[in-house]
Amino acid sequence: MKLLLATNNGHKIEEFQRILADFPIEIEFLTPRDLGISIDPEETGTTLYANAEIKAIEFFRASGVPTVADDTGLEVEALGNAPGVFSARYAGEHCSPRANRKKLLAEMDNSDDRRARFKTVICYFDGDRSYFVSGKCEGEIIREEHGTLGFGYDSIFRPENYEKTFAELLSEEKNAISHRGNAVRKFGHLLLAMQKPIMKIGFLASGTGSNVEAIIEAISNGRLYAKPMMIISNNSDAKVREKAEKYGIPFKHISSKMFASDDERDQAIADEFANCGVNMVCLAGYMKQVGEPILKCFGNNVLNIHPALLPKFGGAGMYGINVHKAVIEAGETESGVTIHLANSQYDSGKILAQKKVKVLPGDLPETLQKRVLCLEHTLYAETLQKIVLGDITL
Ligand code: GRF
Repeated sequence: MKLLLATNNGHKIEEFQRILADFPIEIEFLTPRDLGISIDPEETGTTLYANAEIKAIEFFRASGVPTVADDTGLEVEALGNAPGVFSARYAGEHCSPRANRKKLLAEMDNSDDRRARFKTVICYFDGDRSYFVSGKCEGEIIREEHGTLGFGYDSIFRPENYEKTFAELLSEEKNAISHRGNAVRKFGHLLLAMQKPIMKIGFLASGTGSNVEAIIEAISNGRLYAKPMMIISNNSDAKVREKAEKYGIPFKHISSKMFASDDERDQAIADEFANCGVNMVCLAGYMKQVGEPILKCFGNNVLNIHPALLPKFGGAGMYGINVHKAVIEAGETESGVTIHLANSQYDSGKILAQKKVKVLPGDLPETLQKRVLCLEHTLYAETLQKIVLGDITL
């Protein structure tokens, strides 16, 4: 395949080429210089995603070649994640990297919270649509510059578990842990995934379907490489039906009342999914236990989301607001979200991913539920993308 790297920065070009050489994909790398392209797209986006996409699309338009572009930012905790998307022009338009570092150090002068992270977002535009992967590197901002290698904020950023700043690490050492190194490796895995059958998702949901919607959105905005195939609900009036209509996804109502046994019902569900090519089943607020016919057909490719930190607060009766009531009554200081394999007992399959939230003083079950649901909406799609990229094996 031909791939245009939307940069003339020799270091970046070399890094992309070196990392992608480890993947069994034949790539002919092209650069704007090779093609005589000299555009410099304005980075007017308010996120790294938007800026990476602006570059990828503009270079594709100028070349007609599938293009990969990246954007990077430094997020500093004490500064509310600034400078972020403005990292390159923190001290003003066309300012020097040195001026940026000086401004950052001055703003953090009185801060003991030095936590920071670099983030890189890569956009791949294939001429039709955009796909994204991202990488990050956690670390801290030190109080004065150290090292002369690297560029940008490297001399004031010390990655987690290292004694040296990025500007004191050799480029191979830095690339092995850096945000961009991580993002480029993920991009390699994305290209590999694109050569295999795509993840085709069948949803089981009984209620609102906000998690179903969040996954469909992640697919349509290029953050999850998958296809939504069908939504099945045991409840014909479920709000999730409206999501199916909104996104034009086939909806089926399959409930126990239609069958002599739960196994027959589950066989009907498995058949519907199998007939439309589903290879991943996502339970999202599904109020029934999945039985053998579904597990036999899809094996480990049946996932569930639970609004607490399993193994605590799971099992029969632990659904909806009950979960959050129980968390608060137990005096827990943290709760969260769990994505796990579904099996024939409620909430007990292998845990694949968790994210935590603090239980705040004065939290009501409803306020906690709201914050947990917010996390749910990113964690499910992120976990599925990790499966696609081979970071999580089922
Ligand atoms: C979520 O809290 C999920 O964790 C649980 O059921 C709820 C479904 O919410 N399994 P929604 O229907 O996705 O809005």
